[in-house]
Amino acid sequence: MANTTIITLDGPAGVGKSSLARELAEQLQLPFLDTGAMFRCIALHIGPQGLEAGEAELKKGLAGLEFSLQGVGDGSALLCNGKEPGNEIRTEQIAALASKFAALPAVREFTKTSQQSIGEKFSLVAEGRDTGTVIFPKAKHKFFLDADPRVRALRRQKQLAEQGKNEDLDQLEQQIRQRDQQDRNRPIAPLKAADDAIIVDTSLLNMREVLQQLLQHLKELV
Ligand code: DC
Repeated sequence: MANTTIITLDGPAGVGKSSLARELAEQLQLPFLDTGAMFRCIALHIGPQGLEAGEAELKKGLAGLEFSLQGVGDGSALLCNGKEPGNEIRTEQIAALASKFAALPAVREFTKTSQQSIGEKFSLVAEGRDTGTVIFPKAKHKFFLDADPRVRALRRQKQLAEQGKNEDLDQLEQQIRQRDQQDRNRPIAPLKAADDAIIVDTSLLNMREVLQQLLQHLKELV
């Protein structure tokens, strides 16, 4: 692998990884790679019928997608075929579909190649489920964030309320538990902490406190 510095942040849905990884990347002035956005783009572009299609058809769909990363920190953007995806990839329906695509070997092979080739070009902060275990096993710094599912549902509810959407807390918690179940139990690249990852339970911490902890661990880089 090229001589780039990679920081990985893995953890379950709704733990606040994206906001934290983006803020961490901003502080360090590094690009931020949102790997979940890749799976969401695949789900959006290929659609639910891709789950039933044969592997050859699925691979054809994947071959039509090219990912690249531009900008640093807050200005980082993952581009799909040269375009930044909008909020259409941020719905719960697309999240659930992305989680199903993410269990398919052809999809994981494709995303692994895309992510590793981006990581060869830049030092970066990568956020996802398997960035510390499978994608960048030699990353210099690895973090695994966790939080109680109820706390994650509450955070998601607050985030949605800020966008003017009122969602039922129990239903959000159920969706989060369902996604955890799918992401943790798939045979390929399941969600889990790397043996050498620092585990941070964020249940009782706010974002600033978690960020402080991460920066403390990374002190020598800042
Ligand atoms: O982090 P997110 O909610 O945007 O991710 C959407 C889905 O993509 C998630 O349920 C599981 C999948 N995913 C994955 O399997 N591996 C990753 N590195 C990132 C996301």
